[in-house]
Amino acid sequence: MSVPPAAQLPPGLRPGQPLTALAPMQDVTDLPFMRVIAHYGAPDYFFTEFFRVHAQSRPEKHILRSITENQTGRPVFAQLIGEHVPDMVRTVKDLLQYPVAGIDLNMGCPAPKIYKKNVGGGLLRDPAKVDELIGHLRDAVPGVFTVKMRIGFDSTENFEHILGLINKHGVNLLSVHGRTVKEMYRSEVHYDSIGIAARTVRCPVLANGNVTSAAKAGAVLAETGAAGVMIGRHAIRNPWIFRQVREYFEGPVSRRAADGTQGESKDVRETAPPQVFQPTLADVREYIDRLYRETHQPGLPEKVHVAKMKKYLNFVGQSVDAGSLFLHDMRRAMTEAELFAVCDRHLLAEPSRHFAPEPYPGVIARPNCETPLQTCSLDTVTA
Ligand SMILES: Cc1cc2nc3c(=O)[nH]c(=O)nc-3n(C[C@H](O)[C@H](O)[C@H](O)COP(=O)(O)O)c2cc1C
Repeated sequence: MSVPPAAQLPPGLRPGQPLTALAPMQDVTDLPFMRVIAHYGAPDYFFTEFFRVHAQSRPEKHILRSITENQTGRPVFAQLIGEHVPDMVRTVKDLLQYPVAGIDLNMGCPAPKIYKKNVGGGLLRDPAKVDELIGHLRDAVPGVFTVKMRIGFDSTENFEHILGLINKHGVNLLSVHGRTVKEMYRSEVHYDSIGIAARTVRCPVLANGNVTSAAKAGAVLAETGAAGVMIGRHAIRNPWIFRQVREYFEGPVSRRAADGTQGESKDVRETAPPQVFQPTLADVREYIDRLYRETHQPGLPEKVHVAKMKKYLNFVGQSVDAGSLFLHDMRRAMTEAELFAVCDRHLLAEPSRHFAPEPYPGVIARPNCETPLQTCSLDTVTA
């Protein structure tokens, strides 16, 4: 039997402002990356990469580190992916031994390897299973229980039904990536569907998908009436984005309801926002240096470390130059020395030039060729 949503969400950094969260990203949002993001301006909430749950699983040690050794001062939600109720409940109990802000259920991963097992985004095909799973997880989590979902599997047919289940089971926070599983990362984001979620569920909604800048966050919040934004790839590209969103919403904001809403009114900015911090290419060079140092592990071969850096830099490169020249050269670097020589050449020639606040049109962050395509990872995503 599900319980009512008594649990309180942790407060955001600026009470009254929209919430911000770093989206969970497998192979990205580990402890070193959270540290780097917090250095440039932490989000209100962090989410771990997903803990994979199956009969033999135990919470992965490297993901646990992002909870147990996290000194950023911001709450961390532990995300789970799986569908077998006893294994999921066992894992929840394990994870509740650690200082987690809450437990988050993944109902969005679009990788075929995942959804074919009816987990992640695959769950969206089966509302009866969602009802059962969310009900049991709600019972197992005395504190904050959150869900992250897409708007459907191959259509939005089940969307409103599942939103009803979010209410039925007293979920405390819902993150909605405004695409179906089958749309992967390719389509436009359906912010109208996120708006439906914000008007339907009783808990706060985080709008997710292509929130590329503070100004875009403002536009998405105004359109959807969501309580906040969850940002993934564009925080890799621009780690100042959470600071910029806070700056954007600083000062007086007027209250108004989203169009057609039956729910609560939301704080949205209607007056001109204050200037937000604009990083320069020299700032970006420093970010890359910090990322390299933080992601270094003893014994990690240089080639592997460089390949990992290139995955992040695929996103960074979207705002360096309109002609993809940085990306072109960066993708060819094989050693640390080559990589940093490329960075120096492209970022320090005009160090005070601004890093573009939005990605340059047509500059695509495409996967590396170094690694096989597997699950929700940097290798499967283009943007
Ligand atoms: C490399 C990568 C890994 C991801 N891993 C996860 C994950 O572990 N759990 C999850 O719920 N979503 C995962 N996602 C989806 C993101 O959380 C987010 O929903 C998606 O990237 C859209 O947001 P964005 O446009 O701000 O990036 C991943 C996305 C990327 C790019």
